[in-house]
Amino acid sequence: MAEPTPGHLLLLLGLFCTLVPASYSLKILGLFPHPGISHFRFFHPIMRGLAEKGHDVTVLSHFPDKSPPPGYKDLSLTGELLDSVDVQYFETRHFYNRFLEFYMLNHFGKHHCNATLHSEALAQVLQERQHYDVVILEQFNSDCMAAVAHQLNAPFIGMVSSAMLPWHYERVGVPMVTSVMPSLFVGQSEDMTFGGRLTNWFLHHAMTFLYDFYTTPAIDVMVREKFGQNTPSVAELAKKISMLFVNQHFSLSGVKPLPPSVLDLGGMHIQKAKPLDPELQKFIDGAEHGVVYISWGSLIRATTLPAAKREAIVRAVRQLKQRVIWKWENTTLEDKPDNLYISKWLPQRDILCHPNVKVFLSHGGLMGTTEATYCGVPIVVTPMFADQFLNSAALKYRGMGVEMIYHDITESTVLSSIREVLKKEYLDNAKAVSSSYKNRPQSALETAIWWVEYVATTKGAPLLKAHAVHVSRFVYHSWDIYLFLVAIILISVVSWTFICTKLWSRRPNAVKQKSN
Ligand SMILES: *[C@@H]1O[C@H](CO)[C@@H](O)[C@H](O)[C@H]1NC(C)=O
Ligand SMILES: *[C@@H]1O[C@H](CO)[C@@H](O)[C@H](O)[C@H]1NC(C)=O
Repeated sequence: MAEPTPGHLLLLLGLFCTLVPASYSLKILGLFPHPGISHFRFFHPIMRGLAEKGHDVTVLSHFPDKSPPPGYKDLSLTGELLDSVDVQYFETRHFYNRFLEFYMLNHFGKHHCNATLHSEALAQVLQERQHYDVVILEQFNSDCMAAVAHQLNAPFIGMVSSAMLPWHYERVGVPMVTSVMPSLFVGQSEDMTFGGRLTNWFLHHAMTFLYDFYTTPAIDVMVREKFGQNTPSVAELAKKISMLFVNQHFSLSGVKPLPPSVLDLGGMHIQKAKPLDPELQKFIDGAEHGVVYISWGSLIRATTLPAAKREAIVRAVRQLKQRVIWKWENTTLEDKPDNLYISKWLPQRDILCHPNVKVFLSHGGLMGTTEATYCGVPIVVTPMFADQFLNSAALKYRGMGVEMIYHDITESTVLSSIREVLKKEYLDNAKAVSSSYKNRPQSALETAIWWVEYVATTKGAPLLKAHAVHVSRFVYHSWDIYLFLVAIILISVVSWTFICTKLWSRRPNAVKQKSN
């Protein structure tokens, strides 16, 4: 064979480039108008990861990166952050609380939509009118940002920082089987009673209905005010979504029938272990009976606990032979026992993965639940709102946790819950879930980056789109077929009844004639 010429080499190089998706730099825009840090913790790693891979990333959010890598550009939104909740809102939970939660989501969705549409940050994006290869946006309480992707004429990927919300299923063609798939708003595991399935069915459809007839029209008004009356409804624009990345994993949240355009990427935010602060390291290393770790997340302030509940926890801690670490937002705590370490900020992932940490007292927020699952630590969950009930049910169903109702926090419930999950079976179950959670062919972040590049290079991945998205609900659920069958049955029944009554009405004559 002849020596390779520069032409051959170029050909080879060209071939190589077509095999590796996006070996050039892509222009990527992230749109994250919701001001909750726990949501952004799921989005941030992928935006950073894309920049570190050499792509040109612009992120519009409330959370600028403190040490951005080259290629990562922040456009900051201003406005109040959603950074603390008083635990007293959650004293009791009623059936109608789900509707209050929906109302709150809807309210925040509208507010942050209009604020973002009129923000400096978005004005900059719209003014530059750059070509973006792909837009990544949050899927949460409104579809406002889908209108921005439409304006920029770019394909977009959605990200959900929790389980999918009821209105997310149809747009990606995921069948919602309410008999075995718990809805986020209900908070049960996949093992439901008749009453549970009835509630699940009802709330799934009620929430989808409210979203379609209450949230979407309000968002359309804002979007059209900004971009003109010809802008299509965001309900239509939302269906243009190319892929959906969800902060879930089957080993914790159950198996669901997902099309290839929907990826479970739970655990994407979990980073490599970092060394603990020496004082904390010594405290955990020296715990011969293990450590109990208490944290109610970034949003709920433990310092707002009613005194009776705070004192109950402190008394319970004093009776434990374990050492206890509590995320407590004050520098002092009244009657602090010697086996208790308090701090405003704690490196949760690194604490949970320390082999001496035996129990996690959590509010069931998804980030903490995910970290405990990753590290294989049994949990005592005190769910308060939103998806925390769902996460709590998932942990109980997998035998790696128990629930301690907020309303029932007393010295004895704290002690008995901790002693219960210290049993070996909880640890065994937690380790089994952890192993399934961790063993993947590729890390969640690598998977996400691969698919973002795929969507960009295929200009929106049209072949990934489920046909289900294009058909009406009527056709999708085969209601036309049922109607047709019912019509056939009705027609047959009516005709046979008609024929039979005709025959019957003749028969007496026949009998009469015979008797004559
Ligand atoms: C959105 O915000 C703009 C500017 O602040 C305001 O003029 C407009 O009335 C708002 N639209 C709606 C629907 O609230
Ligand atoms: C927080 O600390 C301050 C002073 O150190 C004290 O006055 C206050 O009562 C504390 N709050 C709680 C809830 O412990």
